[in-house]
Amino acid sequence: MTQTDHTASWTLETQLVHGGICKPPAESAGLPTVHPIYASTTYVHNSAQALDQAFNGITPTGEQAYVYARQGNPNSYALEEALKLAEGGVGAVAFGSGMAAIHTALATGGLSVGTKVLASKDLYGPSIGLLRKVFQPAGVTIVLADLCNEQVSQTIEAEQPDVIYLETLSNPLVKLADLDKISAAAHAIGAITIVDSTFTTPYLLRPIEHGIDLVVHSATKYISGHGDSNGGILISASNALLDQARTYATMFGAMLSPFEAHLMLRGLRTLSLRVERQCQNAMQVACFLQKHPAVERIHYPGLAQHPHHELATHLLKREHFGGLLSFELREQTREAAYRFMDQLTLCLPATTLGDVFSLVSYPPMSSHRSLSQHERQEMGITEGCIRLSVGIEYAEDIIRDLDQALQRH
Ligand SMILES: Cc1ncc(COP(=O)(O)O)c(C=O)c1O
Repeated sequence: MTQTDHTASWTLETQLVHGGICKPPAESAGLPTVHPIYASTTYVHNSAQALDQAFNGITPTGEQAYVYARQGNPNSYALEEALKLAEGGVGAVAFGSGMAAIHTALATGGLSVGTKVLASKDLYGPSIGLLRKVFQPAGVTIVLADLCNEQVSQTIEAEQPDVIYLETLSNPLVKLADLDKISAAAHAIGAITIVDSTFTTPYLLRPIEHGIDLVVHSATKYISGHGDSNGGILISASNALLDQARTYATMFGAMLSPFEAHLMLRGLRTLSLRVERQCQNAMQVACFLQKHPAVERIHYPGLAQHPHHELATHLLKREHFGGLLSFELREQTREAAYRFMDQLTLCLPATTLGDVFSLVSYPPMSSHRSLSQHERQEMGITEGCIRLSVGIEYAEDIIRDLDQALQRH
């Protein structure tokens, strides 16, 4: 575009269409402290040659360039840069949902006809659904196994998978997997490791430091943190996987909108404070539930009795065990679980986690709905199992609410 100002000669109709077109503010006009929202589908460059170069993602002066928002926009790029640094990766790609990030990670890992994925049997239900309903019909062999036990290296060696996929903390029983062991065994056979780190966030655990190749998050959860935006993120430990992920993301078209990216970046700024408080609260709640007569069993890695307490002290940030826990009602029935949920007045019975609010969910109704009762039982999820995502409220208020609901359910 030439720099000449033609606007004076335009008719009203044309001025209405072209008025207010974005010009970056001159530094003397004052720069915003917060990244503005770039709600623009496409980007204009100074010359056709600059546009040509921008298609390669770079300006003539070596900065990030934008052409078309499905391929990237300044807001999602800002979020990607922040999470790349937070996770210690070489780069990141933002998505419109956690499931989109997982789908892309699995494809980036190389899942295609004739390949095999070894996945944790404790995965989030829809992630198992994605493997079974999308990748299996495309010719991928799916092996679900316990990756949270001592024999995980032998399992990997025996299965010889192309891709290994697991979560840092399992849902809803908050079991941990030994990431160092898994990455060592995977790399010995040339397998790509993918970890869903939604429950731990980079504040508690950085899987790339433990040799993991690709990290994914449902950014809808702790990263966003306020229950107002859906998104996903993939962080790569290598440039080759990053390039592949970016290519797939562009083709799958599951990009994050600038509005959501803006909210997520805002959420990210308080992540450490929120998670800090959530961990403190969760510990207090776990100690309370542990002694409650209406509670049969509690699952929280911060408690010494949890089978992976030792591993948690090694893997997670010191003295921090996450904001998620689950417990089993003494009366292990769906009816008792529903009665308990209906009595709650502070904790919200809603299907998500990682928000500032305390949230209660019933896995047989939500995350593990698609599995049979028998399958759930095999995973250790009883009909009395309740998952609690502890929020940032005052701990005593959360405890009081749980107590009255437990007494009256
Ligand atoms: C561990 C985990 N991974 C992935 C997802 C999917 O994320 P989204 O709902 O953002 O697609 C969820 C959603 O609850 C989750 O809990």
